[in-house]
Amino acid sequence: MVCLGNICRSPLADGILRFKAKRENLDWVIDSAGTYSGHQGENPDPRAIKCAKNHGVDISYLVARPFSKNDFDEFDKIYVMDSSNYRDVLKMAADETDKEKVEMIMNVVSPGKNQAVPDPYWGDDEDFDEVFKMLDMACERIIQTLN
Ligand code: 4NP
Repeated sequence: MVCLGNICRSPLADGILRFKAKRENLDWVIDSAGTYSGHQGENPDPRAIKCAKNHGVDISYLVARPFSKNDFDEFDKIYVMDSSNYRDVLKMAADETDKEKVEMIMNVVSPGKNQAVPDPYWGDDEDFDEVFKMLDMACERIIQTLN
């Protein structure tokens, strides 16, 4: 799961997918990263932690890190939140196999629409809740299709 800062959207997606994978007894390796390294080492934004907690998901232990070329080798699927993340991640791809792993996450719900998960960083609790709902829907679909 990749966004810009790895403190709002991708930790929510990471925590939601881990929650659902555990529910289904799936042995998946799930992680998140940011295309911008400025928040490296930080826990998720307190508003993201609170939003997830309200939905029964703990993300307080996650730690932000930058996306790395190595992630293309470690993971089969790389879900990005918006078109800017998509461009930044694709720039780091070594070949077509790497590129094929990258997908805008909301395309699992609305194929081909390239709908962005809006950045709630400059928003309020309602914006975080809206993001949670979108990511919850997408992660449920990921569980159903890849399981
Ligand atoms: P995220 O949100 O990409 O969903 O983690 C942001 C976090 C930090 C910044 C921008 C977006 N920032 O500019 O520091």
